[in-house]
Amino acid sequence: MTIVTPNRQPRVSVIGAGRVGSTLAQRVLERDLADVVLLDTLDGWPQGVALDLNQARALEGHSRTAIGTNDYADTAGSDIVVITAGKPRLPGMDRADLIQTNAAIVTGAAKAAIAQSPDAIVIVVTNPLDVMTYLAWKATGLPSSRVMGMAGVLDAARLKTFIAEKLGADVRDVQTSILGNHGQQMIPIARYCTVSGIPLPELLDEATIETLFERARNGGAELVNLMKTGSAFYAPASSVYKMVAAILQDAPRLVTAAAYLDGEYGIKDVFLGAPCRLGRGGVMQVREVALSDRERKALDAAAAAVRQNIDTALAIVGA
Ligand code: NAI
Ligand code: 2OP
Repeated sequence: MTIVTPNRQPRVSVIGAGRVGSTLAQRVLERDLADVVLLDTLDGWPQGVALDLNQARALEGHSRTAIGTNDYADTAGSDIVVITAGKPRLPGMDRADLIQTNAAIVTGAAKAAIAQSPDAIVIVVTNPLDVMTYLAWKATGLPSSRVMGMAGVLDAARLKTFIAEKLGADVRDVQTSILGNHGQQMIPIARYCTVSGIPLPELLDEATIETLFERARNGGAELVNLMKTGSAFYAPASSVYKMVAAILQDAPRLVTAAAYLDGEYGIKDVFLGAPCRLGRGGVMQVREVALSDRERKALDAAAAAVRQNIDTALAIVGA
């Protein structure tokens, strides 16, 4: 007797079907990467978004399916869980101002999702990113390699855009390298930023480079101030997509992700942006690159700031 095993489709669950979550779902479906489950607490919203996305399938010509739900049982068997649930910033707010609201949301979402999909990789998007990633890791009890945060890919994309604009270059020729947290302690490394292999300091003076770096540090706030009712979502969704694709396709992409540091860069027990090789197991390797004394001090300061916010967040969720 021949046993026919149905061809299981990869499944990505997106917790929080707001602007980032629904745009990510659209990317994943329309690039034919995986089926998507969109979960939100709003009654009817995720179901409506999924119906809309499924109706677009006739026009976009892919074979993937979206499910919209308020019930975690529908997320069962996910390969990847992306957490975008929670509040975005409004003008005048710092990302850290979101801890009070988002800590309980992310903790609850991470626990509920992993109960249904114990083998999943978790990618956190909710802000403040580095802190929420730590909470999700604690809540799930997963090995740290299976939990990561998305921010570095976005920060790098923004910096690439600013560098390309300044030099009149094609953005595809620009590479950037950023460590640290998603916020003011973001640490772009000029000599590791290149245009077709040429290090940035060969192309621009120090003051100009610093202006571009500062714009990248404030990239999220620049958009919040323009949008006023929320924060960026197109580039964030593209950034998460890149990580989801690397994991599902087991492609050894090297990106900056918020990863658990356990002695790398001399830092322990925080999630912080560092170059990571992604793959089917999640964060396959955190790469250490040579840093100057100034950069190392800046990274220590970033870790200390994140640590302080983690302690605040842990107290809020009673962990
Ligand atoms: P949004 O307000 O459009 O969507 C958030 C969704 O989460 C809403 O639909 C809401 O109903 C849902 N939600 C709230 N509590 C929930 C719960 N307990 N379970 C399930 N769903 C729940 O916000 P947006 O723009 O999608 O941003 C989401 C988060 O991502 C924010 O915290 C924002 O700051 C963050 N973000 C982070 C980025 C990064 O680089 N890491 C980039 C862009 C956004
Ligand atoms: C951003 O940088 C909101 O953190 C998000 O756009």
